[in-house]
Amino acid sequence: MSKISAAITAVGKYVPEYVLTNQILETLVDTNDEWITSRTGIKERRILKEKGKGTSFLAAEAAKDLIKKSNLDPKEIELVIVATATRDMQASATAVFVASQIGATNAFAYDLDAACSSFLYGVSTASSFIESGRYKKVLVIGADMNSSMINYKDRATCIIFGDGAGAVLFEPNTEGLGVHDEYLRSDGTGREFLQVPAGGSIEPATIETVKENKHYVYQDGKTVFKWAVSNMADACVKILERNNLTNDDVNWLAAHQANKRIIDATANRMNLNAEKVMMNIEKYGNTTSATIPLLLNDYESKLKKGDKVILAAFGGGFTWGSIYLTWAYNS
Ligand code: UT7
Repeated sequence: MSKISAAITAVGKYVPEYVLTNQILETLVDTNDEWITSRTGIKERRILKEKGKGTSFLAAEAAKDLIKKSNLDPKEIELVIVATATRDMQASATAVFVASQIGATNAFAYDLDAACSSFLYGVSTASSFIESGRYKKVLVIGADMNSSMINYKDRATCIIFGDGAGAVLFEPNTEGLGVHDEYLRSDGTGREFLQVPAGGSIEPATIETVKENKHYVYQDGKTVFKWAVSNMADACVKILERNNLTNDDVNWLAAHQANKRIIDATANRMNLNAEKVMMNIEKYGNTTSATIPLLLNDYESKLKKGDKVILAAFGGGFTWGSIYLTWAYNS
């Protein structure tokens, strides 16, 4: 019997309609389009404005897009993983609600949170389930409603983040296509540099924590930037070396869209031409868990069966890593 690998067989996406441009941000905080564009590469982001809707809405819409495009019967899905750092609510997994919303009534579901690396770790989890033969249809959705934890008076964070979701389906492959290798790491000494200080178990929300803005994202951008540049690039170089891949062999880099300068630095370390580097940060900003599946969806028409793709991320925690896979279909 040939070896089973885990391949992506379908993708889908959803971004909210409302566009928050750099020009609008200029009216909210002391910033300007030139600064944001040159320091981050971001021009606009999408924001979910409707009251009563959260991350589950984004995730379910992305999954519905995948289901429609691929003609998938949602009853065949066995596991739904929602990779997210902004779940709907405490004590009830967002993925469970999403699975019900999309009609995945035969699936079990749970959330996976590793900040901006959530989707990458979700790929690791999903592919292990498929490779083991335990499940045959695993849906991984990267979804984040970052606007729910952003202070639109804090120019250090509000210019970066956006809302969105991307979904991928993993199925068994016997042609040798799909996930080949992963290099995943974490370091808890990094959590002080990127966090939402209150609202969790260490400092539950009170009137005081809200008055002190501790329910919003805090980021020491410079420190996170330095860690991100060196660790994401290292992870990519390691995965190339381990798999005897040269820059010529690699067709695509799908890197977490946190800052164009971080992505460019990673591509430079890999000696990759810009045409091989997937990029959509200018349209969506940093959508945390959604950046990589949004890239895969947006580049689906360009991806060819057999293309060698490197996924890479760095995020809060700190968490980071890279995954090497081959694309399994022509769209
Ligand atoms: O996805 C999870 C992981 N997150 C990341 O990977 C994000 C990593 N960090 C970054 O992307 C960058 O650090 C930022 C985009 C957040 C900031 O860029 P930076 O080049 O590191 O800027 P900085 O914080 O060092 O600030 C440089 C200057 C400062 O002014 P002075 O002290 O030099 O006079 C800031 O006050 O730019 C100022 N500044 C701004 N100016 C206009 C900071 N934010 C803004 C702003 N508009 N929005």
